[in-house]
Amino acid sequence: MNNKRVITFGTFDVFHIGHLNILERCASLGHTLIVGVSSDMLNYSKKNRNPIYPQNDRLKIVQSLSFVDEVFFEESLEKKREYIKFYKADILAMGDDWQGKFDEFSDVCDVVYFPRTPSISTTKIIEIAKGI
Ligand code: CTP
Repeated sequence: MNNKRVITFGTFDVFHIGHLNILERCASLGHTLIVGVSSDMLNYSKKNRNPIYPQNDRLKIVQSLSFVDEVFFEESLEKKREYIKFYKADILAMGDDWQGKFDEFSDVCDVVYFPRTPSISTTKIIEIAKGI
C-alpha cells in the first residue's frame, strides 16, 4: 500500500452498487480516500432536480463505508482545483462518464478514470421506481 491521498466527487443519491464499486476502486489506489459529495444546491444546478436523499443522508451513507476516510460537501463545480489542493490529493479518480473532463487538473495531481458499472444509475432506479 502506498501513502497516496485519493479524491473523488459525486452525488451518490439512492446509493447503489455502481457507487460502491467506484469508491472501492478509488480506495484501492492509495492510503486515504476523500469524497466530495455534491450539495443539494449543486446537484440541482447540475441535474435540474432535487436529489431523492438529502445531502446530510448522502454524506452519512458515504462516510459510513470502512474504506472512506474523509467526506465533505462539494458546493461548486468551479472549486474542484481548490478542493484538490485543500485536501492535498495526489490522485483524482472518477467514473469514465467524465472521461477527459478533468484532465486540466493533471498539473496538480494524477487523474484516473474507471469504467462505470454497467446497467445501473440513480436516474435508472428513479425511472424504474416511477414505473417509467
Ligand atoms: N458511477 C459508476 N457506475 C455507475 C454509476 C455511477 O462508476 N453505474 C460513478 C460515476 O462515474 C461517478 C460516481 O459513481 O464517478 C458518482 O456518480 P453519480 O452521478 O452520483 O451516480 P449516477 O448513478 O451516475 O447518477 P445519475 O443517474 O443521477 O447521473
